[in-house]
Amino acid sequence: MLIDGTHYRSIWLAEDGESVQIIDQRKLPFAVEIETIRTWKEMVVAIREMHLRGAPLIGAAAGYGVYLACLELVAADSRGFDVGLERAMTELDAARPTAVNLRWALDRQRAALAEAGPPREKVAIAREQADAIAEEDVAVCAELGRHGADLLAGIAAGNPGRTINVLTHCNAGWLATVDYGTVTAVIYESSRRGLPLHVWVDETRPRNQGALTSWELSHNGVANTVICDNAGGHLMQHGRVDLVLVGTDRTARNGDVANKIGTYLKALAANDNEVPFYVALPSSTFDPSMERGVGAIPIEERNADEVLQVRGHDGTGESRMRLYADGTAAANYAFDVTPARLVTGYVTDRGVFDARHLADGLRGTNRG
Ligand code: MRU
Repeated sequence: MLIDGTHYRSIWLAEDGESVQIIDQRKLPFAVEIETIRTWKEMVVAIREMHLRGAPLIGAAAGYGVYLACLELVAADSRGFDVGLERAMTELDAARPTAVNLRWALDRQRAALAEAGPPREKVAIAREQADAIAEEDVAVCAELGRHGADLLAGIAAGNPGRTINVLTHCNAGWLATVDYGTVTAVIYESSRRGLPLHVWVDETRPRNQGALTSWELSHNGVANTVICDNAGGHLMQHGRVDLVLVGTDRTARNGDVANKIGTYLKALAANDNEVPFYVALPSSTFDPSMERGVGAIPIEERNADEVLQVRGHDGTGESRMRLYADGTAAANYAFDVTPARLVTGYVTDRGVFDARHLADGLRGTNRG
C-alpha cells in the first residue's frame, strides 16, 4: 500500500536480516510508526497485544517468529535447540486463538524444519519458509482481488451508472495481510478498473478497526463513510447497501465463518433485506480439519478494559477515557461465527464459491 507516495508492506524482514519490522497498528491512524521486533518473545507480545492484527498477517508474523526463535537458539546454544524451538512455537500458538492462519503457519514451519539438518541449516530453512508464507499471502490476496472485482462488476452491470455501495466490518485490509488486503483487494482492484464505489465502514468497537479501514481506503482514493456498529441494518433496510463483504479469521469446511464480533448481526440483517453477503477468504484461512464452525471455532475473549475504556487522540497524544462506573462488569468477545446458510458466497483466490462447493473449490490449494 502507498502511504504518502511510498509503498509499504505491513511486515518485512529488516535490512540486517536478523530482525523483523512491522507498522505498529496501535498508533494508527494518527502516526505511522515502524516497530522492530528482535526476539520471538517480542513477536508473541506484538501478536497478543495487537501491534499487528488480522488473520493473514498474524500467520506471516508467526512464520517470522519461528525464524527469530531459530536465530536466537543457534546464538545461545545449539544443544537446547529442539526444546527451545518447541517452547517458542507453543507460546506463539497461544498468542491468539481464533485466526487459523497462526496454527497453519506454525505447522508449515514445523514440517519444513523436520526435514532440515543441523540447527544452522534450520535457521536458513525457517527464513525461507517465513518469506514464502509472506510472499504467498501477497499473491493470494492479489488473485482474490481479481475474482472479487469480477463479482462486483457483475453487480454493477445490473445497476448501470450507479455507485455501488459496499458495507464492511472490521479491517480486512492491507493492514490485516502482508499487502493489498482481502476485502480491500477487491475494492482496490474494482476501483482500478474504474467502478464507481463507496464503502460503509463499521466502526468496530471496541478496538475500532474501522479507523484503520477508513484510513487505508482514503489513502487509496476510495470514497468511504464510517458508521457506528448498529447502523448497517438501517442502511440495508433503505436500499443503501448493494453488498456486504467481510473478512474471516477461520472458515470451517461447511462454510461457517468466524470473523470480528458483530459480523453475525450484519449477516442476519443482510439476509432479512436480501442483500448479498460475501466473505473474502484466502485459502490460508480455510480450516478443512474443522467440519463446522458454530460452537467449535475457539472464540477469543479479550480484556474487559477494552470495552470499559475508549482510546483516542486528544490532539497532543493518545489518551484513554473510562466510559463506565467503577466496578462495572463487562465481557469482551472478539469474534463470532456466522452460519454458512447466511453466506451468499466466498471470494477466494480460486474463484467465488457457495458453501456447497467451497471445500472442493479449494482442493489443491495450500488448504484443500
Ligand atoms: O482482532 P483482529 O483485528 O485481528 O480481527 C481481524 C478480523 O476480524 C478480520 O476481519 C479478519 O482477520 C480478516 S483479515 C483479512
